Amino acid sequence: MKICLVNGSPKKKGSASGWFIGELQKLLPEQAETAVLASASYTGAPFLEQLCDCDALVFVFPLYVDAVPSHLLRILTELEAIASEKEQKPIVYTVVNCGFFETKQNRYALDVMRHFCRRAGLPWGEGVAIGGGAFLGQSVGIPLEASPKKSLRAAFTAFAASIAQGKTGGVDRYVEPNMPRFLYFHAANYGWKRQGKQNGLKGKALYRGWEREK
Ligand SMILES: Cc1cc2nc3c(=O)[nH]c(=O)nc-3n(C[C@H](O)[C@H](O)[C@H](O)COP(=O)(O)O)c2cc1C
Repeated sequence: MKICLVNGSPKKKGSASGWFIGELQKLLPEQAETAVLASASYTGAPFLEQLCDCDALVFVFPLYVDAVPSHLLRILTELEAIASEKEQKPIVYTVVNCGFFETKQNRYALDVMRHFCRRAGLPWGEGVAIGGGAFLGQSVGIPLEASPKKSLRAAFTAFAASIAQGKTGGVDRYVEPNMPRFLYFHAANYGWKRQGKQNGLKGKALYRGWEREK
Protein backbone atom coordinates (compact mmCIF):
# COMPACT_ATOMS: atom_id res chain seq x y z
CA MET A 1 0.00 0.00 0.00
CA LYS A 2 1.37 3.42 -1.00
CA ILE A 3 0.57 6.35 1.26
CA CYS A 4 1.54 9.90 0.39
CA LEU A 5 1.54 12.46 3.20
CA VAL A 6 1.55 16.12 2.19
CA ASN A 7 2.78 18.71 4.65
CA GLY A 8 0.58 21.71 3.83
CA SER A 9 2.38 24.16 6.12
CA PRO A 10 4.36 26.89 4.35
CA LYS A 11 7.02 26.57 7.10
CA LYS A 12 10.11 24.78 5.82
CA LYS A 13 10.93 23.46 9.30
CA GLY A 14 9.44 23.28 12.80
CA SER A 15 5.80 23.12 11.70
CA ALA A 16 3.12 21.48 13.82
CA SER A 17 1.97 19.72 10.64
CA GLY A 18 5.43 18.14 10.33
CA TRP A 19 5.23 16.76 13.87
CA PHE A 20 1.72 15.37 13.24
CA ILE A 21 2.98 13.63 10.10
CA GLY A 22 5.86 12.02 12.03
CA GLU A 23 3.50 10.69 14.72
CA LEU A 24 0.99 9.43 12.17
CA GLN A 25 3.70 7.60 10.26
CA LYS A 26 4.62 5.67 13.42
CA LEU A 27 1.01 4.42 13.66
CA LEU A 28 0.72 3.26 10.04
CA PRO A 29 1.41 -0.41 9.19
CA GLU A 30 5.12 -1.17 8.84
CA GLN A 31 4.62 -2.72 5.42
CA ALA A 32 3.02 0.45 4.03
CA GLU A 33 5.23 2.46 1.71
CA THR A 34 5.04 6.09 2.84
CA ALA A 35 6.32 9.26 1.19
CA VAL A 36 6.25 12.74 2.70
CA LEU A 37 5.97 15.73 0.36
CA ALA A 38 6.29 19.36 1.42
CA SER A 39 3.83 21.68 -0.27
CA ALA A 40 6.35 24.49 0.36
CA SER A 41 8.63 22.75 -2.19
CA TYR A 42 5.97 22.33 -4.85
CA THR A 43 7.47 21.38 -8.22
CA GLY A 44 4.38 21.31 -10.43
CA ALA A 45 3.69 18.28 -12.66
CA PRO A 46 6.15 15.77 -11.02
CA PHE A 47 4.68 16.62 -7.59
CA LEU A 48 1.11 16.13 -8.86
CA GLU A 49 2.00 12.83 -10.54
CA GLN A 50 3.38 11.55 -7.24
CA LEU A 51 0.12 12.51 -5.51
CA CYS A 52 -1.92 10.59 -8.06
CA ASP A 53 0.31 7.51 -7.88
CA CYS A 54 -0.72 6.28 -4.41
CA ASP A 55 -3.57 4.50 -2.63
CA ALA A 56 -4.05 7.08 0.12
CA LEU A 57 -3.36 10.78 0.07
CA VAL A 58 -3.10 12.43 3.50
CA PHE A 59 -3.15 16.24 3.56
CA VAL A 60 -1.87 17.69 6.85
CA PHE A 61 -2.09 21.48 7.06
CA PRO A 62 -2.65 24.50 9.32
CA LEU A 63 -5.93 26.40 9.32
CA TYR A 64 -5.46 29.79 7.66
CA VAL A 65 -8.35 32.25 8.04
CA ASP A 66 -10.84 29.43 8.57
CA ALA A 67 -9.70 27.68 5.41
CA VAL A 68 -6.80 26.13 3.46
CA PRO A 69 -3.45 28.02 3.06
CA SER A 70 -3.37 29.66 -0.39
CA HIS A 71 -0.31 27.80 -1.70
CA LEU A 72 -2.04 24.49 -0.87
CA LEU A 73 -5.23 25.69 -2.51
CA ARG A 74 -3.26 26.24 -5.70
CA ILE A 75 -1.95 22.66 -5.52
CA LEU A 76 -5.48 21.34 -4.97
CA THR A 77 -6.77 23.32 -7.95
CA GLU A 78 -4.05 21.91 -10.20
CA LEU A 79 -4.53 18.40 -8.81
CA GLU A 80 -8.28 18.63 -9.46
CA ALA A 81 -7.57 19.23 -13.15
CA ILE A 82 -5.48 16.07 -13.59
CA ALA A 83 -6.96 13.72 -10.96
CA SER A 84 -10.31 13.48 -12.73
CA GLU A 85 -8.50 12.12 -15.84
CA LYS A 86 -6.59 9.40 -13.95
CA GLU A 87 -7.74 5.82 -13.50
CA GLN A 88 -6.06 5.51 -10.11
CA LYS A 89 -8.15 7.30 -7.47
CA PRO A 90 -6.32 7.75 -4.14
CA ILE A 91 -8.53 8.10 -1.09
CA VAL A 92 -8.14 11.54 0.46
CA TYR A 93 -7.65 11.93 4.22
CA THR A 94 -7.10 15.22 6.01
CA VAL A 95 -5.59 16.50 9.25
CA VAL A 96 -6.14 20.21 9.88
CA ASN A 97 -4.80 22.00 12.95
CA CYS A 98 -5.56 25.49 14.20
CA GLY A 99 -4.22 27.96 16.74
CA PHE A 100 -7.49 28.41 18.60
CA PHE A 101 -8.23 25.96 21.36
CA GLU A 102 -11.68 25.27 19.87
CA THR A 103 -11.31 22.51 17.29
CA LYS A 104 -14.67 23.30 15.67
CA GLN A 105 -12.87 26.25 13.97
CA ASN A 106 -11.56 23.61 11.56
CA ARG A 107 -14.93 22.42 10.29
CA TYR A 108 -15.06 24.65 7.20
CA ALA A 109 -11.59 23.56 6.12
CA LEU A 110 -12.75 19.93 6.25
CA ASP A 111 -15.77 20.97 4.14
CA VAL A 112 -13.39 22.56 1.62
CA MET A 113 -11.51 19.26 1.37
CA ARG A 114 -14.75 17.31 0.88
CA HIS A 115 -15.80 19.70 -1.91
CA PHE A 116 -12.36 19.32 -3.48
CA CYS A 117 -12.81 15.52 -3.50
CA ARG A 118 -16.21 15.77 -5.12
CA ARG A 119 -14.92 18.05 -7.88
CA ALA A 120 -11.74 16.02 -8.46
CA GLY A 121 -13.65 12.72 -8.48
CA LEU A 122 -11.57 11.39 -5.57
CA PRO A 123 -13.04 9.34 -2.72
CA TRP A 124 -13.19 11.11 0.65
CA GLY A 125 -11.74 9.13 3.54
CA GLU A 126 -12.12 11.05 6.78
CA GLY A 127 -10.65 13.94 8.70
CA VAL A 128 -9.04 14.84 12.00
CA ALA A 129 -9.51 18.41 13.26
CA ILE A 130 -7.06 19.59 15.90
CA GLY A 131 -7.61 22.59 18.17
CA GLY A 132 -4.67 24.03 20.12
CA GLY A 133 -2.41 22.86 17.30
CA ALA A 134 0.40 25.20 18.30
CA PHE A 135 0.66 23.34 21.61
CA LEU A 136 -0.17 19.79 20.45
CA GLY A 137 2.13 19.93 17.44
CA GLN A 138 4.96 22.12 18.62
CA SER A 139 5.61 20.83 22.13
CA VAL A 140 7.92 18.24 20.62
CA GLY A 141 9.30 17.31 24.06
CA ILE A 142 5.86 16.05 25.11
CA PRO A 143 5.26 12.65 23.49
CA LEU A 144 1.96 11.52 21.99
CA GLU A 145 1.67 9.08 24.91
CA ALA A 146 1.55 11.92 27.49
CA SER A 147 -1.78 12.79 29.11
CA PRO A 148 -2.25 16.29 27.53
CA LYS A 149 -2.20 14.51 24.15
CA LYS A 150 -4.49 11.63 25.11
CA SER A 151 -7.38 12.62 22.77
CA LEU A 152 -4.98 13.22 19.89
CA ARG A 153 -3.41 9.79 20.41
CA ALA A 154 -6.85 8.09 20.35
CA ALA A 155 -7.90 10.01 17.23
CA PHE A 156 -4.63 9.29 15.38
CA THR A 157 -4.74 5.59 16.28
CA ALA A 158 -8.27 5.24 14.83
CA PHE A 159 -7.40 7.48 11.86
CA ALA A 160 -4.29 5.42 11.00
CA ALA A 161 -6.41 2.25 11.16
CA SER A 162 -8.94 3.80 8.74
CA ILE A 163 -6.12 4.71 6.33
CA ALA A 164 -4.70 1.18 6.53
CA GLN A 165 -8.15 -0.31 5.81
CA GLY A 166 -8.85 2.12 2.95
CA LYS A 167 -12.00 3.30 4.72
CA THR A 168 -14.12 5.93 2.97
CA GLY A 169 -16.87 8.26 4.20
CA GLY A 170 -15.75 7.96 7.81
CA VAL A 171 -16.69 10.27 10.67
CA ASP A 172 -14.41 13.28 11.29
CA ARG A 173 -12.70 13.39 14.67
CA TYR A 174 -12.42 16.67 16.60
CA VAL A 175 -9.57 16.90 19.09
CA GLU A 176 -8.47 19.47 21.70
CA PRO A 177 -5.58 19.38 24.20
CA ASN A 178 -6.47 17.49 27.39
CA MET A 179 -6.06 20.55 29.62
CA PRO A 180 -8.33 23.37 30.79
CA ARG A 181 -8.83 26.11 28.19
CA PHE A 182 -7.56 28.86 30.56
CA LEU A 183 -4.22 27.05 30.96
CA TYR A 184 -3.78 26.90 27.18
CA PHE A 185 -4.67 30.57 27.00
CA HIS A 186 -2.05 31.55 29.61
CA ALA A 187 0.62 29.37 28.03
CA ALA A 188 -0.14 30.96 24.62
CA ASN A 189 0.14 34.49 26.05
CA TYR A 190 3.45 33.58 27.68
CA GLY A 191 4.65 32.20 24.34
CA TRP A 192 3.68 35.36 22.41
CA LYS A 193 5.50 37.58 24.91
CA ARG A 194 8.62 35.44 24.79
CA GLN A 195 8.60 35.58 20.99
CA GLY A 196 8.05 39.34 21.14
CA LYS A 197 11.08 39.78 23.42
CA GLN A 198 13.19 37.63 21.10
CA ASN A 199 12.15 39.99 18.30
CA GLY A 200 13.10 43.17 20.12
CA LEU A 201 9.85 44.26 21.81
CA LYS A 202 10.08 45.74 25.31
CA GLY A 203 7.78 46.98 28.09
CA LYS A 204 4.32 48.12 27.01
CA ALA A 205 5.00 47.17 23.43
CA LEU A 206 4.79 43.55 24.50
CA TYR A 207 1.19 44.13 25.45
CA ARG A 208 0.30 46.65 22.71
CA GLY A 209 2.58 45.82 19.81
CA TRP A 210 1.41 48.68 17.58
CA GLU A 211 2.86 51.29 19.99
CA ARG A 212 6.28 50.33 18.72
CA GLU A 213 5.36 51.96 15.40
CA LYS A 214 4.66 55.39 17.00
C1 LIG B 1 -1.92 33.56 8.06
C2 LIG B 1 -2.42 32.73 9.24
C3 LIG B 1 -3.78 32.53 9.39
C4 LIG B 1 -4.26 31.78 10.48
N1 LIG B 1 -5.61 31.61 10.63
C5 LIG B 1 -6.08 30.92 11.69
C6 LIG B 1 -7.49 30.79 11.91
O1 LIG B 1 -8.33 31.25 11.13
N2 LIG B 1 -7.91 30.13 13.02
C7 LIG B 1 -7.03 29.58 13.93
O2 LIG B 1 -7.48 29.00 14.91
N3 LIG B 1 -5.68 29.66 13.72
C8 LIG B 1 -5.19 30.31 12.63
N4 LIG B 1 -3.84 30.42 12.43
C9 LIG B 1 -2.91 29.70 13.34
C10 LIG B 1 -2.37 28.39 12.72
O3 LIG B 1 -3.42 27.59 12.19
C11 LIG B 1 -1.63 27.58 13.81
O4 LIG B 1 -0.58 28.38 14.32
C12 LIG B 1 -1.11 26.24 13.35
O5 LIG B 1 -0.76 25.48 14.50
C13 LIG B 1 0.14 26.35 12.46
O6 LIG B 1 0.45 25.05 11.98
P1 LIG B 1 1.84 24.73 11.21
O7 LIG B 1 2.95 24.91 12.24
O8 LIG B 1 1.69 23.31 10.75
O9 LIG B 1 1.97 25.70 10.07
C14 LIG B 1 -3.34 31.18 11.39
C15 LIG B 1 -1.96 31.39 11.20
C16 LIG B 1 -1.51 32.16 10.15
C17 LIG B 1 -0.01 32.37 9.98
